[in-house]
Amino acid sequence: MANESNVAALLTGQNEPLVVQGVAYPSVGEDELVVRNHAIAVNPVDYAMQMLGTTLFSWLQYPYILGEDVAGEVVEVGSAVTGFKVGDRVVGHAVLGSDTSTGGAFQRYSRLLSNMVSSIPDSLAYEDAAVIPLGLSTAASGLFQKDYLGLQYPSISPQPTGKTLLIWGGSTSVGSNAIQLAVAAGYDVITTASPRNFEYVKGLGATQAFDYQSPTIGADLLEAFKGKRCAGGLAIAGVVPQARTEAAEACLEVIAKSEGDKFVALAMPLPPQLPDGVGAKFIFASGLKDSEVSHVIYGDYLPKALAAGKFTPAPKAEVVGQGFEAIQGALDALKQGVSAKKLVVTLP
Ligand SMILES: NC(=O)c1ccc[n+]([C@@H]2O[C@H](COP(=O)([O-])OP(=O)(O)OC[C@H]3O[C@@H](n4cnc5c(N)ncnc54)[C@H](OP(=O)(O)O)[C@@H]3O)[C@@H](O)[C@H]2O)c1
Repeated sequence: MANESNVAALLTGQNEPLVVQGVAYPSVGEDELVVRNHAIAVNPVDYAMQMLGTTLFSWLQYPYILGEDVAGEVVEVGSAVTGFKVGDRVVGHAVLGSDTSTGGAFQRYSRLLSNMVSSIPDSLAYEDAAVIPLGLSTAASGLFQKDYLGLQYPSISPQPTGKTLLIWGGSTSVGSNAIQLAVAAGYDVITTASPRNFEYVKGLGATQAFDYQSPTIGADLLEAFKGKRCAGGLAIAGVVPQARTEAAEACLEVIAKSEGDKFVALAMPLPPQLPDGVGAKFIFASGLKDSEVSHVIYGDYLPKALAAGKFTPAPKAEVVGQGFEAIQGALDALKQGVSAKKLVVTLP
């Protein structure tokens, strides 16, 4: 495979549009797979990195290959990898980091850590599978890592815990994965979304949904948690800084005043002040690669749950283009905002 030609949609500088050009074929590490990508999804962090460059992502070096969500076919297997073979259909998270600048998703062949990859059933199309990885990793990091919420692990036969979790932002990509993981781990889920998405989040397993824009959202959630044992909160919101801070503060306030575990895992930066007695920590999804939770989720739970039809790739994929030239348009479209959907590009 080493002479196989590779091509990428490359980021060559801050605020530069992606450029499609030939790049080196990645050499597989002992714990890695090389995957030929058939579909990729785009995420807010991709356009944030494009716009903000080293101002926010100090380790970024140009040219850089963006993208974290891939679905495709295994073409090479590292010497220490077990459980995968050439030809397997997989979905994987191309993690961020200074040592992985050649590992991004927006190329024909990506180098992926095997503990961040799952097999997918033949019945699942690549474009549908591609919606999963970053949302799943972010949700799993906050829900299951011991230094976050440390919840019971998910299973395809969940054991009820009798506890209820607050997921703020259930219709986001991260929230859609989090609801399903938390329910599979035996927790009831109360969530927030726009009313148009209430049926969507309930379809994923939430028991109750509340409008995060309602002026009474805090009181509504406190009322909903009355008489329940709270398992803590996972806070996710859109990309507007002020709205994200307000969402984080509101979520923390509800957890502070409810009975039960006083911790919130946040997909956004921590607000300047935390309520007394509540712990909180910012999630870094790529950090999952160093956690045993990666093996639990990618190695065990997800392949089984997909095969058993007990996990739905969500939000639903909207294929917005084909080929590497379409990726910049997908990023531009995502910047305009999405609601309960994931923008996907299929690759030749
Ligand atoms: N820290 C990490 O490692 C990490 C990883 C991934 C993502 N993130 C961050 O997590 C956030 C979500 O990312 P994503 O890809 O999941 O987003 P997304 O799916 O693109 O987000 C769109 C959704 O945001 C919801 N939303 C907007 N404002 C909200 C608010 N104030 N409260 C609750 N929901 C709100 C909208 O819900 P409605 O349409 O129902 O109104 C919409 O469905 C982003 O800020 C992203 O940067 C962080």
